[in-house]
Amino acid sequence: MRMRKKPNLVPRMEACGQYWIKEPERLKGKWRSLKPDAVRLRLELGCGKGRFTAETAAQHPEDLYVAVERAADAMVVAMERCRALGLTNVFFIDGDAAELDHCFANDEVDLLYINFCDPWPSVKHSRRRLTHEGFLRSYRKVLREGGEIRFKTDNRALFEWSLFQFPKAGYELSQVTRDLHANGVQGVMTDYEEKFYRLGTPINRCVGTKVKLPDVPVEESLNRALDGLECVWDELPPLPEQTGRYGRALKLSLLENGMERAGLELVEDCPRERTLWVGAFTVEPEARRTGLDVRLAQALARAAAAGGFHAVRLSCPEGENGDHAFWLEQGYGDLPSRQGQEDGQVMMELRV
Ligand SMILES: C[S@@+](CC[C@H](N)C(=O)[O-])C[C@H]1O[C@@H](n2cnc3c(N)ncnc32)[C@H](O)[C@@H]1O
Repeated sequence: MRMRKKPNLVPRMEACGQYWIKEPERLKGKWRSLKPDAVRLRLELGCGKGRFTAETAAQHPEDLYVAVERAADAMVVAMERCRALGLTNVFFIDGDAAELDHCFANDEVDLLYINFCDPWPSVKHSRRRLTHEGFLRSYRKVLREGGEIRFKTDNRALFEWSLFQFPKAGYELSQVTRDLHANGVQGVMTDYEEKFYRLGTPINRCVGTKVKLPDVPVEESLNRALDGLECVWDELPPLPEQTGRYGRALKLSLLENGMERAGLELVEDCPRERTLWVGAFTVEPEARRTGLDVRLAQALARAAAAGGFHAVRLSCPEGENGDHAFWLEQGYGDLPSRQGQEDGQVMMELRV
């Protein structure tokens, strides 16, 4: 949505200071401190000028409502609407829906609204649609099990396409309608919705409920992600001291034109359940130059998540260059050092 830059935008935003959360990362896991008696936390992505936001928050004073909007000149109108109504249960983030997990903890959100998101009609931009499988999977992190995504759009093509995205990302569909207001206006309308309704455009709506995704074996996900390379897997016998303590030990050799380019050793449920331990990660220097190390690390993180693991863990030499810097760039963080840890090594973990 393109909007003219409103004059005096910053002073207007400052005047709505009680609604504007400038450092949302600081509230990660603590949003309910803004309304300790909140029954549910509702989140809206791309609230625009906020008619739906203000009216829904007003209708549900028992719930806490957070709206995310990346266009500040639209968000300011939404905040002014809430101020005019004297609402105390609604807050705004001027940010990107792609970064929800920086601001919300796992399972913190009960209900998520996507209303009339930009359709990005060109196929090459489909990943930008807020209902793309990739986005829907990212919302899973912050949405509790059984939590809902309520989606409305005037765009029939986007709607039909989205109906395929929801199940792939682990949502069960219900309340699917292609003419929400066929028998009179249903629920609170958004600004865009009202415009399309007046024009006689049918409004599409569905609800996606987060359900548990079946775990996919890590080999299967990695084989798929590393398409174009030959993946050779071996299941390693557990070391005597590991027998019965950990899950499967797997070795992957990645071949290109018959030449080994990279290798990976993994132990499942090590050192504790739902953690995937990386015992070895080797990539040939030439293959590193083509980015295979990053591709493999990213595929590993996705495979771990799809496999039902909560974290990937490894140990590497500490230092500003080399492996340590590489894993930091991939989003891994240092764990506090432990007794028995080898000198000069640092234990790192990525939550997935
Ligand atoms: C077509 S408008 C719809 C506004 C409102 N939901 C309505 O129905 O009236 C889409 C809104 O989503 C916002 N938006 C698009 N992508 C976004 C993203 N990744 N993060 C946050 N807001 C986004 C746009 O700035 C725009 O205000």
